[in-house]
Amino acid sequence: MAVKETLVITKFLRERTEDSWEYAAAREHNNAYGALEKALKMEPAALVEEVQKSGLRGRGGAGFGTGQKWSFLPPDIFPRYLAVNADEGEPATFKDHMLIERDPHQIVEGSIITAYAIQAHHAFIYLRGEFALGAERLQAAVEDAYANGFLGKNILGSGFDLELIVHRGAGCYIAGDETGLLSSLEGERAMPRIKPPFPAVQGLYAAPTIVNNVETMSAVTQIVNNSGEWYAGMGVGKSLGTRIFSVSGNVERPGNYEVELGTTFRELIEGLAGGVKGGKQLKFFIPGGASSPWLLPEHLDEPLDMDRATELGTMLGSGAIMVFDETVDPVLIAWRIAKFFAHESCGKCTPCREGSGWLEKVLYRMANGLGRAEDLDLLLGFGNNLAPGLSWPPGQTTICQLGPSTMSPTVSLNKYWGDEIRARLTADEARRKTLQVTPA
Ligand SMILES: Cc1cc2nc3c(=O)[nH]c(=O)nc-3n(C[C@H](O)[C@H](O)[C@H](O)COP(=O)(O)O)c2cc1C
Ligand code: SF4
Repeated sequence: MAVKETLVITKFLRERTEDSWEYAAAREHNNAYGALEKALKMEPAALVEEVQKSGLRGRGGAGFGTGQKWSFLPPDIFPRYLAVNADEGEPATFKDHMLIERDPHQIVEGSIITAYAIQAHHAFIYLRGEFALGAERLQAAVEDAYANGFLGKNILGSGFDLELIVHRGAGCYIAGDETGLLSSLEGERAMPRIKPPFPAVQGLYAAPTIVNNVETMSAVTQIVNNSGEWYAGMGVGKSLGTRIFSVSGNVERPGNYEVELGTTFRELIEGLAGGVKGGKQLKFFIPGGASSPWLLPEHLDEPLDMDRATELGTMLGSGAIMVFDETVDPVLIAWRIAKFFAHESCGKCTPCREGSGWLEKVLYRMANGLGRAEDLDLLLGFGNNLAPGLSWPPGQTTICQLGPSTMSPTVSLNKYWGDEIRARLTADEARRKTLQVTPA
């Protein structure tokens, strides 16, 4: 099998693990801040155009065009802010974590370039609170950048000023939502806000704000280094460039793999990640983090393409691919994911606050032989209030995407194993009646 691994963002850190986060190594071996020197000689508008040319789409989950997002800033409204999303809370996603710990200068550089492109003089990297080593290395990288004239006043004599602050979050998933993140940065609870207005129009301190993911920032550095055209020369359709996928679960070689978009799930899972562990059969896989609807072995030859994923009723989301073998009970996995969402719901919207808890309770009894015959249909019934249409992308009755995402596992259970699960629940109920066990 041809295995495509295209190292662009991760090339340097794959080559050097022992000192890749250090300023001297990054300068000597990875041309760190070379892209910034180039960028500062360009007009900000030309940089926005270059990133638009690259076709880069955000790597945080939604896949929105990066240059396009930057172009939405209302002209002539200042100050503007940049907030780099380093919260990485989506279960099984661990790519940003690796970039932060091993190549923080690439992120800092991409953040400075982005701030210059959007003419922001204050930028924040909102870092997941639990990332202790990441915080240490990122902070050291920022200090090195200040010490060497890449941050602060009159950067490299360009006249451009930028203050960059690393802000450690308090450890909740919902702070990863861009508006939850902005609330948290302002010192409030990380409660998402209704959109519109979108952050590009009214974000931090009610000023225009660009929120971009860590991997997106790293890609910006590479695009400026090599050109938008170079980046757009990789990929497929409107999914251009490379992406880092975190592969976990029942595979021989779990880990982060950077591949050109358009590579197939099979090349990634069976090739780079070594296939299902112990020679077992693949039962299903989750293609884009816990929020995404699931796929089956028959989808292995599909390309890693954001638009094709939408056609398949799912998404590439945060780039976390979870692999499950034939011994795994999908109902148990659905319950575990539901438990996470119920715990992380911020409680602002009724369907999510109430629905996520009910989902967790009913899936718990379904997974533990205590289900009722009607349980799957009960979930699909009230789940329609959480994810209207019960398809992907779902309709929305809630402020943020966490609400509809809670239904992805249940919708997948019904789609692939609905009859089997209903028969199992009927049998469980009959057995319980014989045993006179009271359901939870
Ligand atoms: C519940 C929830 C959690 C999210 N968590 C993250 C996260 O941890 N990191 C991230 O970059 N984006 C996360 N996002 C997506 C952000 O809202 C936003 O789309 C992203 O940071 C924009 O950056 P990008 O355009 O570079 O992808 C989350 C979204 C939701 C709804
Ligand atoms: S959908 Fe859930 S997590 Fe998102 S704002 Fe509403 S209650 Fe909070």
